[in-house]
Amino acid sequence: MTSKKALLAAFAAFTLSLAATTGAIAATAEENYRFYCAQCHGLEGRGDGVNATENQPVSPRDHTSAREMEKLTDEDIINSITDGGPSTSKSSLMPPFGKTLSKSEIAELKGYLRKLCKCKGK
Ligand code: HEC
Repeated sequence: MTSKKALLAAFAAFTLSLAATTGAIAATAEENYRFYCAQCHGLEGRGDGVNATENQPVSPRDHTSAREMEKLTDEDIINSITDGGPSTSKSSLMPPFGKTLSKSEIAELKGYLRKLCKCKGK
């Protein structure tokens, strides 16, 4: 191998290892929220995302509302994110994320929602 090729190979290996490392870094709860939840719940969590329209039978929960969010236990929040609205007898307009997000990502999202509402569960 010429030294130029060796250099290229080394560079390729380095780039690959970088890509592998980046892939392994988990997204933060805020990043996941903005990616998976904001289109309905809004970037700030106020239930006013672009997909929330007046013709829908129910509006996405306002995650900044302590009055609304303190009605839910931590378990309710985790269940509704994992299995969707029907798991807490709510609308199926709230989709399930149990196959998309890991248990720890869902637990972190629950923590993020508690920060947004500045509230605890009943
Ligand atoms: C397609 C739109 C949509 C997306 C995407 C969505 N939601 Fe919802 N969500 C809703 C709607 C609509 C409701 C209200 C359901 C009801 O009150 O019957 C809701 C309700 C909720 C509730 C309250 C459930 C309850 O039992 O009261 C939580 C918590 C929640 N969403 C979290 C999330 C999180 C976290 C994400 C992202 C991982 C997310 N949602 C993504 C539409 C959505």
